[in-house]
Amino acid sequence: MFAATAIDTSNKPAFYNELAVQLKALLEGEGDSIANAANTSALIYQMVPDLNWAGFYFLQSDEEMVLGPFQGKPACVRIAVGKGVCGTAVDLGMSMLIKDVHDFPGHIACDADSRSELVVLLRDADGVFGVLDLDSPLAGRFDKEDQAGVEKLAAIYVAASSLED
Ligand code: SME
Repeated sequence: MFAATAIDTSNKPAFYNELAVQLKALLEGEGDSIANAANTSALIYQMVPDLNWAGFYFLQSDEEMVLGPFQGKPACVRIAVGKGVCGTAVDLGMSMLIKDVHDFPGHIACDADSRSELVVLLRDADGVFGVLDLDSPLAGRFDKEDQAGVEKLAAIYVAASSLED
């Protein structure tokens, strides 16, 4: 049985390094992309402080993403590429770090409590195939250290889940 171990959150780079070690251990030897997304979102939601949502959207076509495994309140199912924070990340081909979602025109509010958001891309050899999305009820919750840490977690998820292809 995998049991997440509490990590000191006072040093963010060290926190994400340790979380990366735990995520690798959690996904070790498993290539199922849905199971791995479910466990990745569960670990992030359990371990990263001050989140109200953590989960995946996967591209179903060039124009649209569909909700994947997540933790938090029920969320909108379909997001068009170019819409909201998630769709903009895919459209621009870059992570999105939104200090206050109220200042982001077109933000899609799945949970009225969300105030800040971090979206990172899921990218394999064929290109971007989805996003990993974290929401917080605190404005300004995420910074560049969170972005770098979560990008690393997304890369671990992608590497583990491409075993199956
Ligand atoms: N806020 C996102 C939508 C997804 S929910 O946060 C889970 C967006 O604007 O794309």
